[in-house]
Amino acid sequence: MPGMQEPTTNEPLVVPAGGDVGNPLLDAFRDAMALGTTVTETTVTETTVPETTGFGERRAEAIARYGFAIPTEAALAVIRHHSPAGVVEIGAGTGYWAHLLQQRGVDVVAFDPEPAPSPQNTWFAGTPPWHPVHRGDHDTVSAHPERTLLIVWPTKDETWAATAAQRFHDAGGRCLVFVGEGPGGRTGDATFHAVLGELATCLHCAYGSLSSPCTCGVEPQWQRTQTVELPHWPGFSDDLHVYAAASPRGGAPRRFRRRYGRRPATNARGAGR
Ligand SMILES: C[S@@+](CC[C@H](N)C(=O)[O-])C[C@H]1O[C@@H](n2cnc3c(N)ncnc32)[C@H](O)[C@@H]1O
Repeated sequence: MPGMQEPTTNEPLVVPAGGDVGNPLLDAFRDAMALGTTVTETTVTETTVPETTGFGERRAEAIARYGFAIPTEAALAVIRHHSPAGVVEIGAGTGYWAHLLQQRGVDVVAFDPEPAPSPQNTWFAGTPPWHPVHRGDHDTVSAHPERTLLIVWPTKDETWAATAAQRFHDAGGRCLVFVGEGPGGRTGDATFHAVLGELATCLHCAYGSLSSPCTCGVEPQWQRTQTVELPHWPGFSDDLHVYAAASPRGGAPRRFRRRYGRRPATNARGAGR
């Protein structure tokens, strides 16, 4: 794909200070959208079958090389604004978002149980990482409550993102950024969306949804404060959402206060600084 920056070794890419702060995934996405789909005709026995080489293939290539969601400067600026003590990212895959954030001055520690290029991580098997991604899972978040927790495209119907959001909150984490689709979408499970305060109704009990766990007893621990629209591959609806810890007393959770003092006042002037 034109416009792509090639990772060439198994080592994370090192971008010199003041070097390129590009976004080759966004470039690749724009190129793909400009090209549109190509429809060719293939003759199978006596029937002519239209064969579409379209966005699915280009999206799969982009995921394998970069990741699932397409960052923009606005989205990266919002994360930067909300991360005065840096970011802890889990499920980081190739570390593409971490790389772009680090280029823009945000300190990022990134984890994945199977960091790229692990053959066990079939989405990114063989892909060199863009940023150092350490081996670690949802448990690692408790050690970094001063950072902002970043979770991009948590695996659909798996429980780990919900556990991470709960443990991060209980450890005193104050800010969580989730990039993905809403309840019932392709990212996370119903418990995750309930913990984020996005699911008022239990889909299991109200609609008999067998694919959703019962969320009746799940305490919403987060409150959405901001949404940034992202470019989507056709048919997808992933955006960036910022959450603040919901605390019954309106202050920082006790464990956080003991370690880091009082919660700083919220800056209501928005992102990008
Ligand atoms: C759909 S991929 C998304 C990867 C990356 N965030 C992106 O957007 O390209 C989900 C990632 O979650 C990781 N993962 C699986 N179980 C996990 C766990 N318990 N804790 C953290 N990450 C996990 C997988 O290894 C995989 O890299």
